[in-house]
Amino acid sequence: MTPAVEVRNLTHYYMKGTENQVAAIKNINLHVEKGETLGIIGHTGSGKSTLIAHFNGLLKPDEGEILVDGQNIFESKETLRQSRFKVGLCFQYPEYQLFEETVYKDIAFGPKNMKLSQEEIDRRVLTAAGMAGVRKENLEKSPFDLSGGEKRRAAIAGVMSMEPGVLVLDEPAAGLDPAGRRELISMIKNYRRATGCTVIIVSHSMEDIAGVADRVCVLNNAEIAMLGTPTEVYTRDEELRSMGLNVPEITRIFINLKKRGLNVPENIFTVDDAVACLRKMQQRGNA
Ligand SMILES: Nc1ncnc2c1ncn2[C@@H]1O[C@H](COP(=O)(O)OP(=O)(O)OP(=O)(O)O)[C@@H](O)[C@H]1O
Ligand SMILES: [Mg+2]
Repeated sequence: MTPAVEVRNLTHYYMKGTENQVAAIKNINLHVEKGETLGIIGHTGSGKSTLIAHFNGLLKPDEGEILVDGQNIFESKETLRQSRFKVGLCFQYPEYQLFEETVYKDIAFGPKNMKLSQEEIDRRVLTAAGMAGVRKENLEKSPFDLSGGEKRRAAIAGVMSMEPGVLVLDEPAAGLDPAGRRELISMIKNYRRATGCTVIIVSHSMEDIAGVADRVCVLNNAEIAMLGTPTEVYTRDEELRSMGLNVPEITRIFINLKKRGLNVPENIFTVDDAVACLRKMQQRGNA
């Protein structure tokens, strides 16, 4: 099957040609399969935001290419335009980009640009608002009257309303409290389940990523350091630590128990996983 997004030998420099030139990403090769959820993790400055900004042509490769649905997005103006609709990019702190008079208008902005009928725009706004957890009574309010968490949801709904085949979220849960983070991650999981679309999530939180991703890509110093299932990646905890990344405390405990010979799984990413696993072991022990 054609991948949703394919990255071939991608390199991007900032301040190219000056003495401050930095390769923010170097020779990246990556396939993102249709319908999968890919997590991208990496230390600050590792190149995560630079990488994803290429997926809809917001940044242009200095070397290499990006294919969306098998098509090089820089092939023509039309393929570039199409890629903006196919790949919905939600920036870090997207709430700062809300600007319309009402939440409804903000969520409708993308579909309007796509020149859809008013009826279709309405349908999309209501569907996206529902998926993102924007309350109906908030649709006619000014985005500036919403709480921080509500603004975040409104901004995410504004990308979902374009019904992109690929939804890319840069640190969607940043700045939220633990309960807010959990709700947001479960909202994304539900969205993916309901739409079957491809989801790419960038996060610092290895716990958030473990709960949602099918595969995890670790960026380190502008390059891909690891790519695999959460279990394959998280069991390399010492290497991750050397890259400034910490696997969830509970995962580390289980990995260490396993190393000491206990028959426990290594794919424990949350305290809830751990409790469920220990209960099961206890039941088995009592049987
Ligand atoms: N506009 C820019 N001009 C110059 N250098 C930049 C620019 N944006 C990013 N960089 C540099 O490129 C590298 C990669 O940055 P990028 O923002 O992609 O990292 P990141 O992994 O998203 O970091 P964070 O976790 O802090 O969001 C860093 O060294 C950064 O300083
Ligand atoms: Mg970033």
